[in-house]
Amino acid sequence: MTLRTTHDVADAVTVLRAGGLVALPTETVYGLAGDASSPGAVARIFQVKGRPSTHPVIVHLPSASHVDAWAVDVPDWARTLMTQLWPGPLTLIVPRTSTVLDAVTGGQLTVGLRVPAHPLTLQLLERFDGGLAAPSANRYGHVSPTTAQHVADQLGEFLDADRDLVLDGGHCPVGVESTIIGAWDDTPRLLRPGAVTPEQITDITGRVVSADGAGVRAPGTTALHYAPRARVVIVEPEALSDAIAGLADGERVGVIAPAGAVVAPDVERLAAPADENEYAQGLYAALHLADESGMDVVIAVPPPARGVGVAVRDRLNRASTERTTR
Ligand code: TXA
Ligand code: MG
Repeated sequence: MTLRTTHDVADAVTVLRAGGLVALPTETVYGLAGDASSPGAVARIFQVKGRPSTHPVIVHLPSASHVDAWAVDVPDWARTLMTQLWPGPLTLIVPRTSTVLDAVTGGQLTVGLRVPAHPLTLQLLERFDGGLAAPSANRYGHVSPTTAQHVADQLGEFLDADRDLVLDGGHCPVGVESTIIGAWDDTPRLLRPGAVTPEQITDITGRVVSADGAGVRAPGTTALHYAPRARVVIVEPEALSDAIAGLADGERVGVIAPAGAVVAPDVERLAAPADENEYAQGLYAALHLADESGMDVVIAVPPPARGVGVAVRDRLNRASTERTTR
């Protein structure tokens, strides 16, 4: 039996209430969601992803008015961010209430919260009226999905056609995962870059954002993440043709480079984004495409380090970490 895909929010609510999992669209990437209050549902998320059980997952809420069911001692500056930037691509790591499952927090004293800005998923959350635990809907360490098809390709064989569902909401408009900010004291701490920038956070809160996570574990921030099977090589524009020329004979290569970059006509172009926003939007689709078409190498010319370009460069770096086993 093949995995069910729907556009029907009511159908998805039924699945979640029954303890099943729903792969759902957000503005960043697709998430693999289950009832965050159900130990069984949360355990299956880890199983389906093949994710180590100590890695915490983000709880997705319908609105900031749900925060107090999950968090205590939320700093005022973090409340301001919630008011101004939710729904949106921002996750706040805040001190948890005692009722939050250890499986959700990885046994830590904090919980990650966010209100996603996708209309279908917001409707789903409002009708569900609770928290949904949802990591990105990919196998552990692999490339995050930005379409329902990516989810089906990666998780189809691990999900249960009788119990689970994919909610198809089209392409994710942002394309890279949310900005994660540690919010447990006076200092906002950047744990993962995303579309919400440190400059925006400073403008809104008047606080300087620290790049120091104070030793907090945020596993999406470890090396070897977001990685396709193909080897990823990062080059500056002027080094592009040398990098292509330097490949071993017979290696199949695809290039991701800004629209203006000059690429030899016989080289396959995986993406030609006009700016850093388009780059973020198309990055994971390009990496998925490289794997589907059996490429050995992806050569990427990174976008400028501004706006969401910082997050794109971060993900490219993690995807390109030298490895021997893949
Ligand atoms: O855009 C996103 O954030 C997507 C969509 C689906 O919402 N979700 C996502 O989830 O990227 P995931 O699980 O792939 O990455 C969440 C990151 C992980 O690196 C995790 O370690 C970190 O958030 N995280 C979650 N709760 C945490 C906590 N209490 N303390 C520290 N890090 C936490
Ligand atoms: Mg992830």
